[in-house]
Amino acid sequence: MMELTINGVQHHINADPDTPLLWVLRDDLKMTGTKYGCGLAQCGACTVLINGNAVRSCVTPVGELGAAQITTIEEIEQDDIGKRVVAAWIRHQVPQCGYCQSGQVMAATSLLKQTPHPTDDDIRAVMVNLCRCGTYNAVSAAIHDLAGEAAEEGAKQ
Ligand code: FES
Ligand code: FES
Repeated sequence: MMELTINGVQHHINADPDTPLLWVLRDDLKMTGTKYGCGLAQCGACTVLINGNAVRSCVTPVGELGAAQITTIEEIEQDDIGKRVVAAWIRHQVPQCGYCQSGQVMAATSLLKQTPHPTDDDIRAVMVNLCRCGTYNAVSAAIHDLAGEAAEEGAKQ
């Protein structure tokens, strides 16, 4: 039995320490907003935030998480930046089929936490989640929009 803090709530998990976090989220806790794509750390569909950083939950053993703060798409709008990312995703109509988008939102939130004014190169370096629907231009436009908002806020201060 171990404890995991997910979206600010402590959960008692009865799983082998080697079990990937994604399995616990989806199968044990029924938090199905985080998606399974490749299972190999390649596609980013399973991305969650761990202590604010984007992490691929399909290759993250639960036994390594300890007291880490885990945030999933279900609660991302409780985060100020996450809320703005979701709003920009809607404004720019980013999702097509939507399958990759929870991972995309988590990756963008992590990027903007660390780099409020990302350049094209920053966006290209971080936003490597795969999208079969090809929403890459919309993802980029939404992040540029958010970077502009952050720049305006900075100018006002
Ligand atoms: S399912 Fe985790 S990176 Fe593809
Ligand atoms: S929106 Fe369909 S896979 Fe990205």
